[in-house]
Amino acid sequence: MSELSVNHLLGIKYLNESDLHLIFETADRFKEVINRPIKKVPSLRDVTIANLFFENSTRTKLSFELAEKRLSADILNFSAAQSSVKKGETLEDTVNNILAMKVDMVVMRHPHPGAASFLSKKVDACIINAGDGTHEHPTQALLDAFSIREKLGDVAGKKVVIVGDILHSRVALSNIYALTALGAEVKICGPKSLIPKYIESLGVTVEPDLRKALLWCDVANMLRVQNERMDKSYFPSVREYAQLYGLNLPLLESLNKSIVVLHPGPINRGVEVTSAVADSEHAIILDQVENGVAIRMAVIYLLAEKLIIPTNA
Ligand code: CP
Repeated sequence: MSELSVNHLLGIKYLNESDLHLIFETADRFKEVINRPIKKVPSLRDVTIANLFFENSTRTKLSFELAEKRLSADILNFSAAQSSVKKGETLEDTVNNILAMKVDMVVMRHPHPGAASFLSKKVDACIINAGDGTHEHPTQALLDAFSIREKLGDVAGKKVVIVGDILHSRVALSNIYALTALGAEVKICGPKSLIPKYIESLGVTVEPDLRKALLWCDVANMLRVQNERMDKSYFPSVREYAQLYGLNLPLLESLNKSIVVLHPGPINRGVEVTSAVADSEHAIILDQVENGVAIRMAVIYLLAEKLIIPTNA
């Protein structure tokens, strides 16, 4: 198969295993490109992409923008904070006004779950979900799985524990879909109050004890505590959270085995992981960021192939 089964990237849930491998193989080629002295290809010279960010972002926004530039696309950047959204304009009107300027593809981050899916039904453009509330963050899961594959040779058969605030995390849900589709075993670890009751129906198991989970796994993906999405207190104190679910170097070294540590960022240093862990050889946090550009180039390139306009690949 040489094309994606979807016309939009709304979530990992809608991709099949062949799509995931195709994205990784395409990202392998783009990773080689972005490590050349001339890091740019003319593939998307005829494509215009709007980056619509209705919620804050550092990594995802910059990574998409760089990926689009490396592919030679034309780019429009939109930030809700400086826009007419503040004057009451609806999402559909905002996007239709941008599309009237002949935009082919929209990359959107939005605080509401389902916003990307809603948009894909309303407007005539390819939509890429850059994170929709607590729902999905598909390109983050793709770059996480790609980084595991790069470090360990394959994702199939690997044991991955996802630790922390699962309840509010779009990264957790997209990771669960991607890792299980690729044949990894997945465990969830965190305070009971931050683990949704339905989680085991997604093909994962729960291990409340972090040390036991770490002894079991090959990879630990340490998720951020998402204070901005919490309307009440889910654990007694940050200090207690860090003691029970935070990863520090003495704990890591007491395991007497090597595990790969991921974090999607931004990191609350001293909460999910200590600085000693984040900056150690165990962590591949900056590899994840580097791989994010190649993965986003692959996603944009493969979706652009499905647009009506011809590309110069
Ligand atoms: N990982 C991630 O989505 O980071 P940003 O919120 O900075 O984009």
